[in-house]
Amino acid sequence: MEGKVINIGILVSGRGSNMEAIIRKVEEGYIKNAKVVVVISSRRDAPALEKARAHGIETLFIDPKDFWKEPDPEKRERLRVEYDKNIIAELEKRNVNLVLLAGYMLKLSPYFIRKYKGRIMNIHPSLLPAFPGLNAQKQALDYGVKYTGCTVHFVDEEVDHGPIILQAVVPVHDDDTVETLSERILKKEHEIYPEAVRLYVEGKLEVLGRKVKIKS
Ligand code: GAR
Repeated sequence: MEGKVINIGILVSGRGSNMEAIIRKVEEGYIKNAKVVVVISSRRDAPALEKARAHGIETLFIDPKDFWKEPDPEKRERLRVEYDKNIIAELEKRNVNLVLLAGYMLKLSPYFIRKYKGRIMNIHPSLLPAFPGLNAQKQALDYGVKYTGCTVHFVDEEVDHGPIILQAVVPVHDDDTVETLSERILKKEHEIYPEAVRLYVEGKLEVLGRKVKIKS
């Protein structure tokens, strides 16, 4: 992969701490031969946008116009694809070859996922396949697990499901609240997401069905 620069596009909806952890590792040269070329938000007021701009990165807000509220399922899916096509147009303008979901709260359409197959990563705050979906930390607390953690995976057409790249284990304490547990998990997220990106950029990830082999 020597010499080839990977253009990264990050999709966000909120705080953007994982986004910032990745941007920092690129800036520090820990992730080499990569450039974060655009951050796209589904929410106008996402704090991630300001954070990205502070690093000199171009940001865009693409308005989803609450398409998920459309009651007719077929029309809703059409609107989802239309929205995703707007995102893809911006990614293509900037020759993005790796898409990172970092607290991006909309489900991508199969159209998007097929287009960037094997080139979309997500981070989820649990040890998948446990506790997919929303409020993973609360799900873990409610279930009573002693350990939880976080997972970086390639995105496929099912939510929080694709081939697993890296995971980190985090203990659950008896007196944990959703906040204290989330904070402990988040620290690990900030370690494994940039690490997964580095491995990808260095050409060290090989996907074999559900399994991701890390080449040395
Ligand atoms: C992170 O904890 C991330 O794992 C989670 O949202 C948070 C975003 O924080 N993502 C999901 O739950 C996706 N299913 P951030 O905006 O500070 O990175």
